[in-house]
Amino acid sequence: MKVTSLPGDPGIGPRLADYLKLEHVQFQHKIFPDGELYLRLPKIVEGERVLLVQSMYPNQNDRVVELLLALELLSRYNNSVVLLVTYLAYARQDKEFLAGEPISLRSLVKALSSLGLEALVTVDAHSPLAIKEFVGSVRYVNLVPDEVFSEVLSKKYRREELTVIAPDQGAEKRAASLAKQLGCGYVVVKKSRDRVTGNVTHVLDSLSSVYGTAVIVDDIVSTGGTIAGIASYLSSRGVRVVVAASHALFVGGAYEKLVRSGVAEIYALPTTGVTVEGVTYLDIVPYLARMLREEKIVE
Ligand code: R5P
Repeated sequence: MKVTSLPGDPGIGPRLADYLKLEHVQFQHKIFPDGELYLRLPKIVEGERVLLVQSMYPNQNDRVVELLLALELLSRYNNSVVLLVTYLAYARQDKEFLAGEPISLRSLVKALSSLGLEALVTVDAHSPLAIKEFVGSVRYVNLVPDEVFSEVLSKKYRREELTVIAPDQGAEKRAASLAKQLGCGYVVVKKSRDRVTGNVTHVLDSLSSVYGTAVIVDDIVSTGGTIAGIASYLSSRGVRVVVAASHALFVGGAYEKLVRSGVAEIYALPTTGVTVEGVTYLDIVPYLARMLREEKIVE
């Protein structure tokens, strides 16, 4: 097996290849004067199993095109491709929320899986159940690195002082799992989002008995709106607020918004091309290498 990285890979492919003792080949890329993308694999890989690594943030649309181009090349050279997407874009549009909307995730996953994939591996994807349905017969594995967060948090905080907070109903499974690993309780906050304006509203009553340190967990921090409302409420009551988010996109001043809302610490995973000073990024490469072996994707 060989490891190849597309331009969106935030440096995970080469390190993973080192861990797995596999050869790594980086795609070359350029942008034509008219904006079209060009890719080239400088070393032909033919008739092999290939682990193709890409993240789809920032510049989601270019990242999609790169995937389509790379999969065309790799399948034409008779390779069997395992696609590792560390951040999967368009995952939140996993259904028709308002009549007349496309199911963006369905369209993306169907396009990728029609290009000769052996398996699709995601890191804490927003909608693993929907992805599983859309990939059809392609093998699908979603890796959720809870243990990477719990290892760090359990060294820093005593379990008696911790409560894990799910900022919406969709985060309950994630919160329950992290709380179990930390040996503490968890609380789910009800959230509703205006589908037209995108504004979120929380029912904060469930947080009235939280004290000590609250760890707000989420898969994605985009504008920071989901977490900021909860953090403001908790911090104004003297609770120390910690954020543990897999994919920190930090759109339009989201980091500053979180800090202003009283968030004391932010832990994130290096799954995108965004890095923000002040955020602690936790290494996931050893975890990914181990899981790829456990899942028998890599020998
Ligand atoms: C939504 O269901 C996701 O899990 C996140 O909670 C959401 O994408 C966060 O977005 P924002 O930071 O813009 O509130």
